[in-house]
Amino acid sequence: MSKQIRTAVVGLNMGLSHAYAYYESEQADLRWVVDLDEARAKSVAEELGCKYATDWTTIMHDVDAISLCTPHHLHAPQALQAIAQGKHVLIEKPLANTEEECLQVIQAAEENNVTLMVAYVLRYLPALVRLKEVLDSGRYGKPINANCWVEGRLQPSPGSWFSRRDQLGGGVLFSHGCHYVDLLLWFFGEPERVVSLGTRLGTEWMEGEGTAHATILFESGTLGHVGCSWGFRHAAPPALFQIHTTEGLITVPRDYRTIEVITDKGKEILYEEAPSANTSKARTAIYEIEHFLSCIAEDRLPQTNGRDALRSHRAIWAAYAVADN
Ligand SMILES: NC(=O)c1ccc[n+]([C@@H]2O[C@H](COP(=O)([O-])OP(=O)(O)OC[C@H]3O[C@@H](n4cnc5c(N)ncnc54)[C@H](O)[C@@H]3O)[C@@H](O)[C@H]2O)c1
Repeated sequence: MSKQIRTAVVGLNMGLSHAYAYYESEQADLRWVVDLDEARAKSVAEELGCKYATDWTTIMHDVDAISLCTPHHLHAPQALQAIAQGKHVLIEKPLANTEEECLQVIQAAEENNVTLMVAYVLRYLPALVRLKEVLDSGRYGKPINANCWVEGRLQPSPGSWFSRRDQLGGGVLFSHGCHYVDLLLWFFGEPERVVSLGTRLGTEWMEGEGTAHATILFESGTLGHVGCSWGFRHAAPPALFQIHTTEGLITVPRDYRTIEVITDKGKEILYEEAPSANTSKARTAIYEIEHFLSCIAEDRLPQTNGRDALRSHRAIWAAYAVADN
């Protein structure tokens, strides 16, 4: 396919992977990279052979689609502005910090007939797409219990937006755990009850919780659990996912590159990524970026569209509401 969708990326930390993916994709023509830090924008533009700016609003005449990879409190206002100008928008997770803002962005995209996608990068990784197929097939029976571990350490500069609840939209569960709550809802369907507990111990720099446990009881009877932290000095999660089913145990390690299953017959490798797969700088983002661009080209609703993201954000807000009581 000839390069045809003119793209731009705003915010060049996480956004770097979007920029590399647009650069690599044959569906895209990466025109602009934008950051408040001009030196950063300039160096990325030089590397990728595109233009750069510090004010994203000045480039809209020259793009069809834009990735917003900015702090969470900017997602809704920036998206509304871009959508009003008829631009397709890919927003880094989460969609926005409140239900009202999410609905405003979703409605604006529908009214302006533009593609709105939330960058839930994990939903497009081959190993996790395969895991979803395996779970849906019922080959290993019914899922009883899924555990998900997300351990890490974040040390942003003092006063950063990561520390402010109003800018981050909550704590680690909303900011980072949202990936895994989203995956659990994708795997197991409608949640019936959600509860969570969090602590600031070890992450006192944050207003919201820096370590959280969320448990979801699904309508199917499956129980899901996400444990996540930005405060663990020595992160050593046993796996990304361990899913016990009525027939076995399915494990996805932290590198997302294999899926293993243990049944009464022994151990089986269900999926193994070739060592040469995806060694590009676009890393994992290439899969979501290709999906976004295809949805624009074919006028299709993305899998991780606004309403889908809102559904998993609601589960987190419900969990926070229980925790606050
Ligand atoms: N998918 C993932 O695994 C993952 C990982 C990290 C971050 N994220 C998401 O990416 C987004 C950004 O997070 P981050 O970690 O890169 O944040 P960050 O603060 O490290 O970087 C944000 C960048 O955006 C720039 N910026 C801020 N406001 C801007 C504006 N108005 N115009 C242009 N540039 C602006 C900043 O200068 C900075 O370079 C968030 O939504 C975050 O949740 C996703």
